[in-house]
Amino acid sequence: MTAESFYRRSEFFVNGRCENRHVLVKFTPLGTAAEARPNETVLDTARRADAPIGNSCGSVGVCGRCRILVLAGAENLSPPTMIEIRVSAQRGFAPDERLACQAVVTGPVEVTTGYW
Ligand code: FES
Repeated sequence: MTAESFYRRSEFFVNGRCENRHVLVKFTPLGTAAEARPNETVLDTARRADAPIGNSCGSVGVCGRCRILVLAGAENLSPPTMIEIRVSAQRGFAPDERLACQAVVTGPVEVTTGYW
């Protein structure tokens, strides 16, 4: 691996800034975790960590089945999208609940669901 390809793989863009860091997403109480790739959602990271999260809309953000509870690192998720704001209001989400398919990981996070 060349130095250029290494840095391209490890680059992480946050608010237009490039940061190099490792971003771990923990799935509790499963005890699994995976490193999030740049611009990856919690749902995508969960798939690589073998942490099953319900979903049935193809990550469009309308089914609400990927509802997760953020245990730590809520500030390290992208702000809710417009569709997420609408779905969470309709379904009465708590402030620390998010749609895994809409929440892009920008830093370390720990999440859970009601069915793990
Ligand atoms: S997968 Fe449907 S809302 Fe997230």
